[in-house]
Amino acid sequence: MFILGIESSCDETAAAVSENGVKILSNVVSTQIEEHRKYGGVVPEIASRRHCENISQVVKKALGDAGKTLTDIDAIAVTYAPGLIGALLVGVSYAKGLALATGKPLVPVHHIAGHIAANYIAHEELKPPYLCLVASGGHSHIVEVKDYTSFNVIGRTRDDAAGECFDKCARAMGFPYPGGVHVDKAAQSGDSSAFVLPRPKVSGSEYDLSFSGLKTAVVNLLHNAAQKGEEINKNDMSASLQSVISQLLLEKTMLAAEHLSYKTIAVAGGVSANSGVRGAFEKACADRGMKLYMPPLSLCGDNGAMIACQGYFDYLAGRRGDESLNAVATMSLEEL
Ligand code: KG4
Ligand code: ZN
Repeated sequence: MFILGIESSCDETAAAVSENGVKILSNVVSTQIEEHRKYGGVVPEIASRRHCENISQVVKKALGDAGKTLTDIDAIAVTYAPGLIGALLVGVSYAKGLALATGKPLVPVHHIAGHIAANYIAHEELKPPYLCLVASGGHSHIVEVKDYTSFNVIGRTRDDAAGECFDKCARAMGFPYPGGVHVDKAAQSGDSSAFVLPRPKVSGSEYDLSFSGLKTAVVNLLHNAAQKGEEINKNDMSASLQSVISQLLLEKTMLAAEHLSYKTIAVAGGVSANSGVRGAFEKACADRGMKLYMPPLSLCGDNGAMIACQGYFDYLAGRRGDESLNAVATMSLEEL
């Protein structure tokens, strides 16, 4: 069956067509990064306006690239939560219109479930149950993936997400938005032991994460150096920061895997593109004889293919939206 997937939760207008979830026939992503870069981050109002302008063309192209028309599509899947409310509303309203006009089923998809599903596209052998770290610009979750549509979030960030920490530290170093990828590049030629950065302790839930103390420490270090007229080596700072974030994500995920006896681990979300994170998980899983799955770089960030893929599983599970479907800015995976 053919699913059209639509994604507009942040600053990418994206659409894709999948066949039976895992086979991607097209994947179109129109990014707004250049425009938001001027402001150092996503401006929600601008994001909504650009989605509005671009969504018809993006969906048209996704259908065209797949060699399909709307008549061939069996269901329309759309991200409805979580994300920027005005941005989500564009995709949701557009998908509702398409569903109403064509009489096709509408399938509401949770954005984080979509990120998790990106691994099914790349790795057909991956099947639940397994443990997944989802690290993106807005979320850092450790999730027990019980089934394709059933999740148990056992760890989450108490404050900033890992991607947010990368981006805010990158901004303080003078890198353009979004800074994660620039930190990654600079880290290649840096010394990860050059700066001793704090590793936040989180009391209470043993799998929870925290990044705001680390972010504040890096920003303060940079500001104090600037005030004294001292130069901080950005490559060394990037390497040190990337190493600490990678270790924090790895340690909590491995602790959960060991306690709960998971031998299959997945990593997903924008931060799963980070070379330090990928390297740390590859080594740790190899050392422990665990199977590791990570999306190819093209599927780490926001895209329509992951929504079309999760939309397929949600469709099979009977999830449907109707004309009353609304966008939701904040919603845990467990509320599904
Ligand atoms: O999943 P995503 O595209 O959007 C959200 O759902 O938030 O993730 C975007 C985040 C941004 O914070 C971005 O800087 C980060 O992923 N990111 C990276 C890398 N590529 C993207 N962070 C570190 N290293 C990278 N190579
Ligand atoms: Zn995302």
